[in-house]
Amino acid sequence: MREYTARAHTNIALLKYWGKADTDFIIPTTTSISLTLDEFYTDTSVKFDDDLVQDQVFLNDAPLAGKSYDKIVRFLDIVRQEAQLSTHALVKSTNHVPTAAGLASSASAFAALAGSASKAAGLNLTPSELSRLARRGSGSASRSIFGGFVEWQRGDSDESSYAKVLQADVDWDIQLLTVIINDQPKKIDSRGGMQHTQATSPFYAQWVENTNAAVSDMEAAIAQHDFEKLGSLAESNALQMHATNTTANPPFNYLTDQSWTVIQLAATLRQKGIEVYATMDAGPNVKLISKQQDTQAITEALAASLPNVQTVAATPGPGIQIVKGAKL
Ligand code: PMV
Repeated sequence: MREYTARAHTNIALLKYWGKADTDFIIPTTTSISLTLDEFYTDTSVKFDDDLVQDQVFLNDAPLAGKSYDKIVRFLDIVRQEAQLSTHALVKSTNHVPTAAGLASSASAFAALAGSASKAAGLNLTPSELSRLARRGSGSASRSIFGGFVEWQRGDSDESSYAKVLQADVDWDIQLLTVIINDQPKKIDSRGGMQHTQATSPFYAQWVENTNAAVSDMEAAIAQHDFEKLGSLAESNALQMHATNTTANPPFNYLTDQSWTVIQLAATLRQKGIEVYATMDAGPNVKLISKQQDTQAITEALAASLPNVQTVAATPGPGIQIVKGAKL
């Protein structure tokens, strides 16, 4: 069978996915909206091969084992079931998401795997079907099938829960400046974190209601290129998500003192007329939603209060590309 390679870019949620209505099929409790990024991506090649006695998975040239390997095999089983195949696969994946940037790569990884594995298995999926498949690997991967601003409609079933493009060509000035905060606290992965919060935070139901209610406002902000509205909705949504974690039982917190310094700095810069807003995911790094024209002013302000932190800038990026063979 033929080898196929796919390239998928990572994305950052402006309205977050944080909890599941169905854990088996990964149906979320909220509709989420994200921006796909240009600078960070994963290339994955898949070939189903009758000579293999088990799946072989390489990440950045090293064989994958343990839980990460099992997760890939479970995903390949879904593809095999859909394609009515029993053949094992050779998977080779390269992450172009610098580990130092601390950005989650599961979105780009499972989107690229969904693209290459489905093609290699002979499935010709529509973009919506591909998004549904990617969702089964990692929820946020459903959004990395598309470029630009993307909305993952939560739906209420496997068939109805998938992402769609809101704005593919982002021709206005918006970037995500990731502030790399090094004193990583003990890592709680997104899957475990959202599950615990959903089960125990008294604020969880309110967060779900507020996030779903913010969807039409965020759609309007994107359509109108309204930076201030987009940024303030995104920052508020991120803070509400993190508030569900600090009110879980027992509580936990992804944010460190340095994260809060950056969030406060964004507020101070806004008072000085620089439009910058913060969003944070399952880790301490803060992503500053900002304009390229303000990069210097922001990095200078950061250097003054946190001299040791680095920043990585990322602009809007494209949707998945799939090619025959390892050509990317
Ligand atoms: O797709 P997962 O399981 O890695 O979860 C992603 C969760 C957040 O990054 C915190 C929010 C989101 O919508 O991407």
